[in-house]
Amino acid sequence: MDIMKILVIGAGYVGLTSAVVMANCGYDTTLLEIDSNKLKLLKSGKPHFHEAGIRELLRKSIKSKCLLITDDEQRAIKSADIIFCCVGTPDNPDGSSNLTYVFNVAASVTKYAKTKIIFVQKSTVPVGTGRIINIGFKKSRQRISYVSNPEFLREGTAIQDSLAFDRVVVGSDDKAAAKSIINIYKKIEGNRQEIFNLTGLEQAAHVVESEYITTDLSSAELIKVSANAFLALKISFANSIAKLADQSGANVSDVMDAVGADKRIGRSFLNAGRGYGGGCFPKDVSGLISSAADHGVDMPILVAATEVNESMPGYIASRIQDNLNGLEGKKVAVLGLAFKSGTSDARKSPGVKLANLLHKAGALVKAYDPYANQEASGDLHSEIEILQSLEDALHGIDAVVVATDWPEFLNIDLVRLSKIMFGKLFFDAMNSFDYSKVRAVGLQYMGVGRG
Ligand code: UDX
Repeated sequence: MDIMKILVIGAGYVGLTSAVVMANCGYDTTLLEIDSNKLKLLKSGKPHFHEAGIRELLRKSIKSKCLLITDDEQRAIKSADIIFCCVGTPDNPDGSSNLTYVFNVAASVTKYAKTKIIFVQKSTVPVGTGRIINIGFKKSRQRISYVSNPEFLREGTAIQDSLAFDRVVVGSDDKAAAKSIINIYKKIEGNRQEIFNLTGLEQAAHVVESEYITTDLSSAELIKVSANAFLALKISFANSIAKLADQSGANVSDVMDAVGADKRIGRSFLNAGRGYGGGCFPKDVSGLISSAADHGVDMPILVAATEVNESMPGYIASRIQDNLNGLEGKKVAVLGLAFKSGTSDARKSPGVKLANLLHKAGALVKAYDPYANQEASGDLHSEIEILQSLEDALHGIDAVVVATDWPEFLNIDLVRLSKIMFGKLFFDAMNSFDYSKVRAVGLQYMGVGRG
């Protein structure tokens, strides 16, 4: 089993994480990355994004020679027994999924692969994509087996999620191929503790026996986007209730604690705040709306979730504007440019949107993130000042907005903050702070739906 050669195509969050985990399980793994900058960094043992534990696993697997990193597509594909496709599927301007990279990979695999290999689709694709690619594979001389194996890892906890997973979904019409893929995950499960030890990360306490789910190809594809769309729905639902809580004096955190205590509902992903961002939820929701439309199905529930989500940064900006009696010339610090804590990813980041909106309304915006300053810089208005330290961001400001719950922000010295700020407004756009503590130092607390 272990002498089989695995190829992972694409060193993004999913590809790099999957490659280092499989390599540290002892699989002979190759990682194909065509971007020369990323390739150079990876070969020297440096991940091109911030993700806890990944650097340790990358270095270990390069050292043990279990992982080869290359840009030689032809050679890499020719020698592979199992190919994991982990390339990006960004959204087109109309919201549909751009499948160029996925189809390019499929074409290269058809051209170069040896016979009887397994092709595993990990990229998030609209339902029906696998069936189209599989028609080509079935006609090919090599008899390539197609397996859909959607990825559920979250950025910020990518390694934990890849080692301690709730479920593995495998969809294929080739039972033997599906079983081979399941066996890889079983081996990862068996090596879980050992790999956790290499990273220094703590094993997630909640880990239970992982569930293995086998389905047909199209169902596996639909499971992935439905799961993400449902989580996005939960967030937008909480944000809708938060707006009502603001008007009625209720506290959305207390409301969601009690609503989520019903096991049928569950508490997770009901945190109201500045809304969701990142490389998955926004594009997966718009991709699902678009692919449903291609099948003649309307998804008004997802259209509404998107509208609510897109309204949140503007909602927060206008509440700050009202509180400060206008934003013209007001100094506002936005803390948190990553789309969430634990990652340097600033794609579709609500913190970035918020900073741009505050700037547009006339505020003098300073922004700071411990890891995402560089990634966010391209999307921030050029007049927004990006600062390299928290302290610098906070001096003399009229208001501070916390848009990402980095530990550095959650542990902020509130007494000192109240002294170095000029004004008093503390806007908690993540609803992460105990407002009595903020008020105790003389600051004015505002959250989203916290009365
Ligand atoms: C998501 C899915 O969780 C994961 O299973 C899938 O593989 C990829 O997409 P990710 O985008 O990394 O993962 O982050 P996630 O933790 O799900 O958060 C997404 C966004 O929702 C973040 O901006 C986060 O701050 C926001 N969020 C999350 C909320 O606003 N409220 C919540 O209650 C939870």
